[in-house]
Formats: sequence, C-alpha cells, structure tokens
Amino acid sequence: GRESKIAGALLAHYDVHARRLPWRAPPGTNASDPYRVWLSEVMLQQTTVAAVGPYFARFTTSWPTVEELAAAQDADVMAAWAGLGYYARARNLLSCARAVVRDHDGRFPDTEEGLRGLPGVGAYTAAAVAAIAFGRRAVVVDANVERVVARLFAIDTPLPAARSAIRAAADRITPDARAGDFAQAMMDLGATICTPRNPACGICPLRQDCAAFATADPAAFPVKAPK
Ligand code: ADE
Repeated sequence: GRESKIAGALLAHYDVHARRLPWRAPPGTNASDPYRVWLSEVMLQQTTVAAVGPYFARFTTSWPTVEELAAAQDADVMAAWAGLGYYARARNLLSCARAVVRDHDGRFPDTEEGLRGLPGVGAYTAAAVAAIAFGRRAVVVDANVERVVARLFAIDTPLPAARSAIRAAADRITPDARAGDFAQAMMDLGATICTPRNPACGICPLRQDCAAFATADPAAFPVKAPK
C-alpha cells in the first residue's frame, strides 16, 4: 500500500544520500554502538547536528565507552559539556552512564521500555536508541519528523492537537525492517529537503506520495494554532 511505498522510497533515497554523521553506522548496517547513539541523541535534543559534531568528538575521545564516562569526574564532564547548555542534561547523562554500568553490566537495555528506566531517557530518546542502535521497530518522532508526517498526510488539525494523529500516521509508515535507518532518513529529510520554509519538493523522494505536495502550499503544514 501507500504506507510501505513511502518507507521503500525513503530508504532507497537514504541509501544514496544519508548524511555521514559521526555516530552513524553505514546505511543498511542497522546497528550502531548504543553508547554513541545515546550520547548523540541526548546532545541533539537541544542543539543542531553541526553544533553537536565537535562536542561528540571530544566526548568520545575522552570517554570512548560508557564505562569510561561513568568513571569520569563530574567536573570534567560538566566542563566538556560547557556551551551545550541545559546543564541538568549533563548531570542526567552521567547518572545514566553510571546506572548502565551499575545496574546493567555496562550494556544499554535493548528495548524502549528498558531504556525508559534510565535516568534522563524519555520517550523520544528511548525510541531513537531502540531503533537506531538495536534495530527495534520504534516510532521515532521529533520536530522534523512531525513536520514531514504532517505534510505527507496533509494533517490540517493545528499543533499541538495534531500530535496524536501525527504519531498514528508515523506508526503506520514505520517499517518492520530498518526502523533505525527509517527514523534517521525521516530526520534527514526534515533537515535538508522538507524544511520548515521553502521545502525542496522538486528533489523530494516522497513527493508522489505527499498529500501536501498536491496542495498549493505544502509549507502550510503542520498547521500552527493561532496565538
Ligand atoms: N536529530 C536527532 N537525532 C538525529 C539523528 N540520529 N540523525 C540526524 N538528525 C538527528
């Protein structure tokens, strides 16, 4: 159906155009180091991919494994975090690394539910790590994905009320296989093609399946509630 066609077209595009980000395994590998995936996702919650790059490099050089991060001095980690902001997140980061070592033998839980039990790991991070690091089918929805899905289905309920419909639609198009690649392909599409303003529909691999592309103004989705 239309839903599996969307995943197929997106993954074929991702195989060629995936951004080569430092925490990513090559496309199709569908397995990355959970520590690197978790660290990158926590950093990316507040900062762009470009800004995260040098922080991610410094962290993984100083602390290549979760055991090493867990053993770090608090002050060293806080200093390495300086500039990323939201310092509570750096504290949670350390608590989480220590919980993985203390309670899980140094291995991240490999399910969304298990990941949710870690300090500072919310619904988004648990889904992202389960899918990207462990190949689990999880529905990964951040702001970029929200926009892509709202456009694909021309969901015209205003945000935030649209969130449940967006999530349900995201669930319908998430494939059983390659859910991690699929999630990252959706994020890449939102960051590079299906941008908030002036989306590049002419080069979008999903334009034939996109209900918003068929309208006069694809960028009108998602609809924002009037202030
Ligand atoms: N934003 C948050 N997580 C991301 C990822 N894994 N790839 C690209 N952009 C992201």
